[in-house]
Amino acid sequence: MNLSEVIESTNTCRFYQKKPVTDDDIAVTLDAARFGPSGGNRQPVSFVIVKDHEMKKQMQALYLPFWETYIQAIDEGMVRLGSKDKGIVDSADHFARHLAEIPVFIVVCAQLADCHATDTDLDRLSIVGGASIYPAVQNVLLKARSIGLGTALTTLLCHVEPEIKKLLNIPEDISTAAMITMGWPTKKFPKKLLRRPLSEIAWAETYGAPLSTGTITKK
Ligand SMILES: Cc1cc2nc3c(=O)[nH]c(=O)nc-3n(C[C@H](O)[C@H](O)[C@H](O)COP(=O)(O)O)c2cc1C
Repeated sequence: MNLSEVIESTNTCRFYQKKPVTDDDIAVTLDAARFGPSGGNRQPVSFVIVKDHEMKKQMQALYLPFWETYIQAIDEGMVRLGSKDKGIVDSADHFARHLAEIPVFIVVCAQLADCHATDTDLDRLSIVGGASIYPAVQNVLLKARSIGLGTALTTLLCHVEPEIKKLLNIPEDISTAAMITMGWPTKKFPKKLLRRPLSEIAWAETYGAPLSTGTITKK
């Protein structure tokens, strides 16, 4: 597969086969994380791999109440979805209710002392805080896709970081940034993900001024 094919078809996988994933395959995907950029090349990311069913069940029990609150907020129109496809919510609900059956959970950890957030003095949510973390995470998702493994990224468990840290014996100075589920998908990967066109997200010189997108708009 070429790079564009991988990028354009790395979807959120919410339906998995029971077939186990080998440690070698997990290692191949995590190895890609090492090559993500980070501020000062401080490389603050680490991972805890969970395959034990009892542990996964405990994590599912922690996930479900937040999922139920979230789905209720979607129903009440309090949370906006970027897609009108009602199927997403049903798939995500299936995902939540079968979470522990997914072969691999990867908890993404971050050494906060090595994340140099440059926007904490602004009167808004810090975005830069995650900038040295999520490029590595995306590398894992892309590498997994390239060898046929499905993944889903979720941050709901960060609500219960203290409980997750206790369960997984994560040291005091390490935080949790996300969880990735991983396994062999039951469905085919999409040919191309549904996303906003380039003309809606890229501007020339000043925000809002149309960018010449050339042939890419025809794709
Ligand atoms: C920060 C973040 C949190 C997410 N949390 C969840 C989640 O809790 N449950 C879920 O099913 N999908 C979750 N997703 C996946 C998104 O729903 C998914 O990326 C989006 O719907 C686009 O789907 P696609 O990549 O398959 O096209 C999350 C994605 C991100 C980036």
